[in-house]
Amino acid sequence: MFNQTKKVRYAVVGGGQISQQAFMPGVARTNNSELVALVTGDPVKADKLASQYGIKAWSYDQYEELLRSGEIDAVYIATPNFLHMKHAVPALEAGIHVLLEKPMATSVAEAEQILAAQNTRGAKLMIAYRLHHEPGTVEMVTRARGNAFGELRSFSSIFAQNVAEANSRGHNGYWGGPVPDMGTYPLNAVRNLFGQEPVAVHAVGTKTSNRGFNFHDTVAVTLRFPGERVAQFTVSYATASSEFFELVGTKASIHAAPCFNFGPKNDITYVEKTNDDSKTHSFDAVEQFGNETQYFSDCILNDRHPEADGEEGWLDMRVLAAIERSLDTGETVQLEPVTRSRHIDPDQALTLKPAKQPSEDEMISIVPQAA
Ligand SMILES: NC(=O)c1ccc[n+]([C@@H]2O[C@H](COP(=O)([O-])OP(=O)(O)OC[C@H]3O[C@@H](n4cnc5c(N)ncnc54)[C@H](OP(=O)(O)O)[C@@H]3O)[C@@H](O)[C@H]2O)c1
Repeated sequence: MFNQTKKVRYAVVGGGQISQQAFMPGVARTNNSELVALVTGDPVKADKLASQYGIKAWSYDQYEELLRSGEIDAVYIATPNFLHMKHAVPALEAGIHVLLEKPMATSVAEAEQILAAQNTRGAKLMIAYRLHHEPGTVEMVTRARGNAFGELRSFSSIFAQNVAEANSRGHNGYWGGPVPDMGTYPLNAVRNLFGQEPVAVHAVGTKTSNRGFNFHDTVAVTLRFPGERVAQFTVSYATASSEFFELVGTKASIHAAPCFNFGPKNDITYVEKTNDDSKTHSFDAVEQFGNETQYFSDCILNDRHPEADGEEGWLDMRVLAAIERSLDTGETVQLEPVTRSRHIDPDQALTLKPAKQPSEDEMISIVPQAA
């Protein structure tokens, strides 16, 4: 169907903050992908945003028609989490490739429906774990799994920011809240650094009294992994911004910060410490959204199975669901032991230069994430 000179034609589904700030500008950095359509419910975006990119606008009512129009090869789905399944399943069933924002869905059952839809026509599905193509992250994962820090024992992390209740994250219950939204980053990081899946989960959460969230806005999670490995992370929607992780092995520790965010100023950096030495490893910011799109399009054009596939999304989903159960019951939740068939390969790291991001004022009709 494709040859090497052809570009994968993407429709953006949901012209919200991440589409406007990062994905749409990022695609221009690739050499194998192009934007051709915007699916939006907002007439102002249908007019202004689509014409800014010289692309055609479609409404959600026209989504099925777009999928069968022959005008697109793939969709990038960046609607709120509770709509991911609704937009992913028909695309996969129409044979359209899907780059799906994290978290994959809002329940394990929904994630499994997406996986089942993928099997109907053989369209490719990738979950948009942009850090799987970021050179610093890929180096940390590769070195950790190559025993560079000794036997890995523990992982600790904080990822926090002040989120506006008016944003779709701020009023859609647990699955719009900080655990699925931000906790996916430390969870995905530790699963890949350890190269293992957790076997037990415990979580405690608080609801900040002067805020209007309808869920725990600050949550601390503890995970037990096979062998002698433990992990903890805390996420919040109600504090100043904070992000780091620390991985500790028997020979060395690494402290990574920044480690989860994106953008032209985010030079992912980690400090490696042994008893007698300390070394800083810093990586120039890259175009993380362009990189993941370049990689996914390359998989489409060359018929390769993407690394961050539906299984990778599902493996995070089952832990996110267990955290929800632990918050509800106060109990530790046991997870079936499983192993993952794929891992991040060193050659997944890409180095496209960061695209210029529009400021909040330049974006059209967004409900800002930051409080
Ligand atoms: N990978 C990353 O770094 C990253 C960062 C941020 C967010 N994300 C993920 O990307 C997704 C979107 O996040 P975002 O920050 O862009 O959210 P957002 O600003 O709230 O945008 C979501 C967009 O979805 C569309 N939409 C359709 N039905 C909607 C409904 N019922 N309620 C609200 N919006 C609706 C709207 O676009 P139209 O007006 O065009 O229809 C809206 O602007 C989430 O899954 C999030 O987890 C990923």
